Amino acid sequence: MVGRLRSLLTLSAIIVTASSAATPICRDVSGNGTGWPSDVVGSVVDSSDPKFSTQSARWSSYEAPTFSQVFAPEDEEQLSIGNGVLITMENFNYTKINDDLTATVGAGSTFNDVVQVVGAAGREMTVGSCPCVGATGAYLGGGVGRLQGLHGLSSDGVRKIRMALWNGTIIETTDSVNPDLFWGMRGAGQNFGFVIETTFATYPQTNGGNNYESQLTFNISSLGTVVDTVNSLLPLDPKLAIVTIVGADATTLETLVLVNLVYAGTTEEGRGYSNLFSNYSISNIETTLTYAELPTKSAGGFNNIKCIKGHRQDQYGVSMKTIDKNSFIAMAQEYTDLIQANPLLNASAFLVETFGVQAIDDLGDDYSAFPHRGRINNFLEINVSFDDDSVADAGDAWGKRWRDNFSEPDVSGYNSTVVYQNYGHGDEMLSTLYGADAWRHERLTALKQSYDPQGVFNAYHAVPRSIERWS
Ligand SMILES: Cc1cc2nc3c(=O)[nH]c(=O)nc-3n(C[C@H](O)[C@H](O)[C@H](O)COP(=O)(O)OP(=O)(O)OC[C@H]3O[C@@H](n4cnc5c(N)ncnc54)[C@H](O)[C@@H]3O)c2cc1C
Ligand SMILES: *[C@@H]1O[C@H](CO)[C@@H](O)[C@H](O)[C@H]1NC(C)=O
Ligand SMILES: *[C@@H]1O[C@H](CO)[C@@H](O)[C@H](O)[C@H]1NC(C)=O
Ligand SMILES: *[C@@H]1O[C@H](CO)[C@@H](O)[C@H](O)[C@H]1NC(C)=O
Ligand SMILES: *[C@@H]1O[C@H](CO)[C@@H](O)[C@H](O)[C@H]1NC(C)=O
Ligand SMILES: *[C@@H]1O[C@H](CO)[C@@H](O)[C@H](O)[C@H]1NC(C)=O
Ligand SMILES: *[C@@H]1O[C@H](CO)[C@@H](O)[C@H](O)[C@H]1NC(C)=O
Ligand SMILES: *[C@@H]1O[C@H](CO)[C@@H](O)[C@H](O)[C@H]1NC(C)=O
Ligand SMILES: *[C@@H]1O[C@H](CO)[C@@H](O)[C@H](O)[C@H]1NC(C)=O
Ligand SMILES: *[C@@H]1O[C@H](CO)[C@@H](O)[C@H](O)[C@H]1NC(C)=O
Repeated sequence: MVGRLRSLLTLSAIIVTASSAATPICRDVSGNGTGWPSDVVGSVVDSSDPKFSTQSARWSSYEAPTFSQVFAPEDEEQLSIGNGVLITMENFNYTKINDDLTATVGAGSTFNDVVQVVGAAGREMTVGSCPCVGATGAYLGGGVGRLQGLHGLSSDGVRKIRMALWNGTIIETTDSVNPDLFWGMRGAGQNFGFVIETTFATYPQTNGGNNYESQLTFNISSLGTVVDTVNSLLPLDPKLAIVTIVGADATTLETLVLVNLVYAGTTEEGRGYSNLFSNYSISNIETTLTYAELPTKSAGGFNNIKCIKGHRQDQYGVSMKTIDKNSFIAMAQEYTDLIQANPLLNASAFLVETFGVQAIDDLGDDYSAFPHRGRINNFLEINVSFDDDSVADAGDAWGKRWRDNFSEPDVSGYNSTVVYQNYGHGDEMLSTLYGADAWRHERLTALKQSYDPQGVFNAYHAVPRSIERWS
């Protein structure tokens, strides 16, 4: 079997997908189906198959790769084969609660799939805000979410990973079995193999799983006060999660300012925070949502809209110690001008996620390959969204200019640029994504050399196989 697999491996880039949410830059070097072994060829479809378009649909069509085939392995045995095509993990969609209350999550599960099962068991873990994001794809890069202040990153809760290596060997990795690989999988995990399933710690639900939510809207003239209020709350209460959004009304093109505040506690406690905003907001809608409802129902279901596939999504992201009011207001003014001049960019937005960081920072800097502990107080995310390529250049120039502005130490508050790789654009230096420390480069490159000697898993922020190639 190994010989057969080796003969199949061309110089290729593999994209593994649960949900096609992400925007990795990659290339398709697949052939036309010749060469697939007869025992898996039934799980490979090309564009003549009606399943092809749904299986290869991606969240973003911006600079998207094209694929000639999609491989949907049925089981582990089939998974140990395949290269140069989109591999969809749709047949690995399951979440199980184990006797020790850990949760084992198949690599085809989205965060929304996971919270249904974990929530029903009266437990919780850190998940991302959007229902459609692949739980595996997100944690491989770190995994940020509202409960991170209490329970750490999604990847901080990983206890065991079952995966297939480049040559088809299936292994498990934990803190004590292949611990070097286990370290690298949590933060640089797209580099070393296909994940089949992952076991996570879960925790008793905070406040019985009930969360207070406040959705506030503001006049643009209040933006500076909003920024001051968010900054005044740092370091953030670990139960609190604030998202500050600047967007546009698709009809009037008016610039909108929204704050979504979720508190994993009682309404009274949560109101203590929303009251700091509501005395100058235009509106304030308060709700109570369970842990399992948060991905789909928070922000009035806004995240479901963000999950619709196929739009051009040109993303930039950078981390900031505090929100620089001067730059943020200037960016909003330029956003207003941009949308007025290019109405077809009106679905574009920028936002700041301000989440607790205590449980992340409590772990040592070398706990995992996630390199940004102590440096992720606020994530600025710039989403340039459109369907008509005539506005692509104007939108991209605006996004890039402000990403660059917020990357400067005197604006971000950090002494070097910090980018969470899953919120990156793709043009960042590898040291920005994986950390600048020489020991990180050495450790990641050594792992790449031993676990992916042919560079099969190079599709998304590839760790170089030689130390000289770090940027
Ligand atoms: C709308 C939206 C909301 C988001 N919200 C959050 C959030 O709240 N928190 C957060 O942390 N991130 C968030 N992200 C970013 C997200 O973590 C990344 O986009 C991530 O890459 C998505 O993974 P995926 O599996 O959904 O996408 P995919 O495109 O399927 O996967 C991304 C990459 O991960 C690798 N990969 C996926 N599955 C496997 C596997 N089984 N084995 C090996 N490699 C694999 C592949 O290299 C693949 O190219 C969001 C993204 C979007 C689009
Ligand atoms: C597959 O592609 C190769 C060249 O890349 C070509 O020679 C061959 O005829 C193709 N086979 C089929 C079945 O299309
Ligand atoms: C996973 O399965 C559930 C039903 O059990 C389904 O609702 C969901 O859409 C599936 N998720 C994916 C990513 O296919
Ligand atoms: C927003 O504030 C400006 C200046 O304070 C005011 O002129 C305008 O009427 C306000 N708009 C709304 C919708 O409240
Ligand atoms: C907003 O953008 C959509 C396309 O995304 C477009 O159809 C619509 O006309 C735009 N709105 C205005 C007011 O131009
Ligand atoms: C809003 O109320 C808080 C106290 O709840 C106060 O600190 C703040 O100054 C008020 N802001 C405005 C703009 O009135
Ligand atoms: C960032 O933008 C602000 C607002 O326009 C400006 O004052 C500042 O000089 C810029 N900083 C950098 C480093 O470009
Ligand atoms: C940046 O700051 C961190 C502490 O936050 C420190 O460890 C590091 O040495 C500094 N780097 C430089 C280049 O000054
Ligand atoms: C912007 O994209 C990020 C993913 O990088 C996502 O978490 C967020 O919900 C998006 N927000 C908006 C307003 O588009
Ligand atoms: C498969 O690959 C791994 C990682 O490169 C290697 O350690 C192992 O020896 C290989 N197995 C076989 C049977 O070649």
